[in-house]
Amino acid sequence: MKHRLRGACIGYGFISEGGHSPSYRLRSDSPGDFEIVAVADITPARRAAAAKSYPRARIYESWERLLDKESRNVDFVDITTPPYAHAEIAHAALDCRLHVLCEKPLAASMKQAQLMAAHAARVRRVLFPCHNYRHAPVVKAVRSVLAQNIIGDVRLATLQTFRPTHARGVKEWRPDWRRERKYSAGGIAMDHGSHTLYLAFEWMRSFPTAVTAKATTLGDFDTEDNFSCTLTFPTGIATAHLTWTAGTRKVLYTLHGEHGAITVDDDEVKILGANANNLSLGSPSGESGAHIVPSHWMDASHREWFGSLLDDFSEAIDADRWVNADIIDSVMCMSTIETAYASAQQGSRELPIKDAESLLMPSGIDRSYRTPGLQLNDCASRP
Ligand SMILES: NC(=O)c1ccc[n+]([C@@H]2O[C@H](COP(=O)([O-])OP(=O)(O)OC[C@H]3O[C@@H](n4cnc5c(N)ncnc54)[C@H](O)[C@@H]3O)[C@@H](O)[C@H]2O)c1
Repeated sequence: MKHRLRGACIGYGFISEGGHSPSYRLRSDSPGDFEIVAVADITPARRAAAAKSYPRARIYESWERLLDKESRNVDFVDITTPPYAHAEIAHAALDCRLHVLCEKPLAASMKQAQLMAAHAARVRRVLFPCHNYRHAPVVKAVRSVLAQNIIGDVRLATLQTFRPTHARGVKEWRPDWRRERKYSAGGIAMDHGSHTLYLAFEWMRSFPTAVTAKATTLGDFDTEDNFSCTLTFPTGIATAHLTWTAGTRKVLYTLHGEHGAITVDDDEVKILGANANNLSLGSPSGESGAHIVPSHWMDASHREWFGSLLDDFSEAIDADRWVNADIIDSVMCMSTIETAYASAQQGSRELPIKDAESLLMPSGIDRSYRTPGLQLNDCASRP
């Protein structure tokens, strides 16, 4: 059996309880590779909920107290507070030489994300973002179609995420924190933007070089509920539209390659083009080129995807991948979102996006800290 990783959860709200804890509990029994030994939350009712989920864990009323008492007993922390606290907790955990798993968005600003990555590199501990859409079965199916070169290189991608409202956090804390900038650092672009962007980076096999964006708010909030952008990549174009004012809950993605196209409509993946029939994927839906790949999109906790993400986190630890491709993606997500907000404020003016090399190298990530073979600007095209 692999070395058992002992973890501490910081923030025990919706995603920790619904999305992370089912996998941790399952895996602490079999194969026994993860065990949560401590939890911290500032809200008493959430500490009571954590004690029920993890009866053997020690429960703390603050992350400071948890790190003070537990830093020698744990290998990693799992940060699931809202974004306002991610950076401060991550730095404190890295100072204790702990690995850090952190919910998206990695930080509340690009600068914070850069400094977190640099800190992880300096102390040689893994910093890993929860980019769980990469682990959705339907996204894995798209990856497999692209790897088989069925549609050729992608030249245009469109990514749409429709939600009838913002997601609510647990009722015992601040359920509407996503509409309060001081906790969320932004609206739907901060909340869903990361998922949209790291998928776009993967499908376009590069990072964007420029963005033009629009962000609007219908309600009386200080964060946007509609966001759209066009991203220029060295390999083509991607557009994204994210909304909290939709008539339905849905994701719709299209990828257009040199010899065909892929469309994703929640669980349905359609492959269009000459090579589409040579493929076996999920269960055929009856319609030509269409396959159903059950991905549980309606469950906002995405608990079904977290086990696969934990596998990648644990592999990054085993392989000493401090500055891994996922974390470079997350710094590029923050950089793209921040540049998109600036574009929206300037009447949608197209603005250049800094490249990964210039974002990360000056912050202390030199070649000696890099994962062998990982080129910062190429990591979006990793297998
Ligand atoms: N990857 C995904 O699919 C996904 C889905 C939902 C949420 N998230 C992310 O997870 C994070 C949490 O979102 P949520 O919906 O679970 O929020 P939530 O409001 O349900 O839970 C937040 C919890 O953090 C606690 N908390 C707040 N500040 C704290 C602090 N300083 N120290 C300790 N505890 C603190 C609160 O008491 C609450 O229990 C966010 O970053 C969000 O973007 C990711």
